[in-house]
Amino acid sequence: MSKERELIILLDFGAQYNQLIARRIRSSKVYCEILPYDTSLNNIRAKNPKGIILSGGPASVLEEGSPRCDAGVFNLGLPVLGICYGMQLMAQMLGGKVAVPDEREYGKVNMQVAPSRLLSGMDKETTAWMSHTLQVEQLPQGFKSIAHSPHCPVASMENADKNFYGVQFHPEVTHTPQGSFVFKNFLYDICGCSGDWEMSAYVEEAVANIRAQVGDKRVLLGLSGGVDSAVAAALLNKAIGSQLSCVFVDHGLLRLREREEVEAVFAPRLGDNLYVVDASERFLSKLAGVIEPETKRKIIGKEFIEVFSQKALEIGDLDFLAQGTIYPDVIESGGGAASVIKSHHNVGGLPKDLPFCGVVEPLRYLFKDEVRALGEELGLPHSMVWRQPFPGPGLAIRIIGDVTAEKLEIVKASDYILREEIDKGGLMSMASQYFTVLTGIRSVGVMGDERSYDYTVALRVVNTNDFMTADWVRLPYDMLDTISRRIVNEVRNVNRVVYDITSKPPASIEWE
Ligand code: XMP
Repeated sequence: MSKERELIILLDFGAQYNQLIARRIRSSKVYCEILPYDTSLNNIRAKNPKGIILSGGPASVLEEGSPRCDAGVFNLGLPVLGICYGMQLMAQMLGGKVAVPDEREYGKVNMQVAPSRLLSGMDKETTAWMSHTLQVEQLPQGFKSIAHSPHCPVASMENADKNFYGVQFHPEVTHTPQGSFVFKNFLYDICGCSGDWEMSAYVEEAVANIRAQVGDKRVLLGLSGGVDSAVAAALLNKAIGSQLSCVFVDHGLLRLREREEVEAVFAPRLGDNLYVVDASERFLSKLAGVIEPETKRKIIGKEFIEVFSQKALEIGDLDFLAQGTIYPDVIESGGGAASVIKSHHNVGGLPKDLPFCGVVEPLRYLFKDEVRALGEELGLPHSMVWRQPFPGPGLAIRIIGDVTAEKLEIVKASDYILREEIDKGGLMSMASQYFTVLTGIRSVGVMGDERSYDYTVALRVVNTNDFMTADWVRLPYDMLDTISRRIVNEVRNVNRVVYDITSKPPASIEWE
């Protein structure tokens, strides 16, 4: 990391939203480092930050032994912003009073905002997200209240002379729609940052961290073809070169040309350290005759781990297992300090019998859009970086009923046509996920003078922000017409195409 880069230090008092704060700061183009709350003054000084943020946290400042930063933090001549617990701690340490309010506030509140440096730009009345059991009852000397809500007279405070600021609400969450003003004002106006942080700088930082963790040891990563593992591979490759080996298990349930794409991108980078295992026959035979969706998933997960582990043992001499865990995976798993193991293919668990001495998770603090930006920075192809989500069990859950080689050919070919037409029509940004499903239905049709009795393919094209809910995309009729004609003409054993016009809920995105 170059010495001159602007830095904000976030002292961590244990709040679950800390990474979100760091992310807001990074998206304002300022680098932010999260350090333990009791980091020594010398260490803080040595990093030459432009400002300090005291985070929220679950403890109570009224309890003895609750976490505190060094009081000298307030004598460094640097701007300090306290958020929630951080503000209460600031108030207490500077001579104010914190107490249990008559009424707690939790959730969205209406907040009245007074003119100030910190909240400049916010509407006089705005919405803020509160979550606290204590609040500032008496301001420390030199401070004024700059916002209040119905039950919280000091929703925000400032001492502009000393450059000390506090917010009781959470500016980092989307439930505080104008929260970005707090960061913008603190970083740019108060700390005097210019915004010099770019993804290229993150690459440098991440490379240094990986080298420090791994040393001269060897690392294994499972490549799935998905965005996260691909970006993790490119980053690790940059950091440790030939100390990295990657295993790509082709379970035969991938989309058309997917394996070739992965090989084209990674063979030049990894050379002999890219191991592509063709296990398609093995998976097909294990799946033969299996109809129940959850059973299919379980079989695929189990086989995947076995094939991966076998290969890892064969390669041998491996020390670390790398994973493309990203920050939302960490939050979802309730993670914080404890490392959460995400299966490298979203389909099973961690290979337990492998003798790894540790886990490397270079994307652990990044959100999906940051991972994509990092992938672009590392020179991965656009199509790989912007690849739509693809389920770990692959096409097996897009074939209703048992999986056979013939049926796989049908989904692969029809899926390819759908993707090609949507790409050609430039509608990729209209849809978050699009694929075809081989329904279990066969129906009568006419092909030339012949009667046919063939499969029905369904098109599933959805738009969603969070994949928890989704709406079907209103594709133009002409495009649907072209897709349908191409599929029945070009894909053998299909004589009917239907369009799935169900939202989620009640339907799910996948059919199984
Ligand atoms: P559903 O079908 O639950 O899908 O509405 C929501 C999102 O999750 C993906 N999905 C999976 N991803 N393993 C995965 O890694 C799975 O077993 C799986 N099932 C569904 C689906 O593609 C969609 O993006």
